[in-house]
Amino acid sequence: MNELQELYREVILDHNRQPRNFGEIDDADRVIDGVNPLCGDRMTLYLKLDGKTVEDVRFRGSGCAISVASSSLMTERIKGASIDETMGLFEMVHEMLTNDADEPPDELEKLVALAGVREYPSRVKCASLAWHALRAALTGADHEVSTE
Ligand code: FES
Repeated sequence: MNELQELYREVILDHNRQPRNFGEIDDADRVIDGVNPLCGDRMTLYLKLDGKTVEDVRFRGSGCAISVASSSLMTERIKGASIDETMGLFEMVHEMLTNDADEPPDELEKLVALAGVREYPSRVKCASLAWHALRAALTGADHEVSTE
């Protein structure tokens, strides 16, 4: 097993077993439902914004281990980050998941574990579900977003 696959297994297992920021935000500024049409799994993302910063973020969902772990990792990373930085992370993660030619950038830190799904193309949508919901939440899109 190479280093990336090992990290992938470790991080996905940890965040699936103990999802960070799981739950709802009663006074959320944005609430978005994300759906993966391939399996029908859904997650809901709650964002509380403070000017240009993600003050709080939580999620609920009953998806597979990868979608739960990806949501958990994402919330852990963006809590307290600026909206610009968060949008930049979305772009980097999206590029990493859809382009397996390049090495993931170092600033993704623990999020590089998600690159492990590139070995399993059918799981890319599982890993990107939360991130599509995040982009929709930050760009003021509809209340529901699909990975299609
Ligand atoms: Fe449904 Fe992964 S199998 S989100």
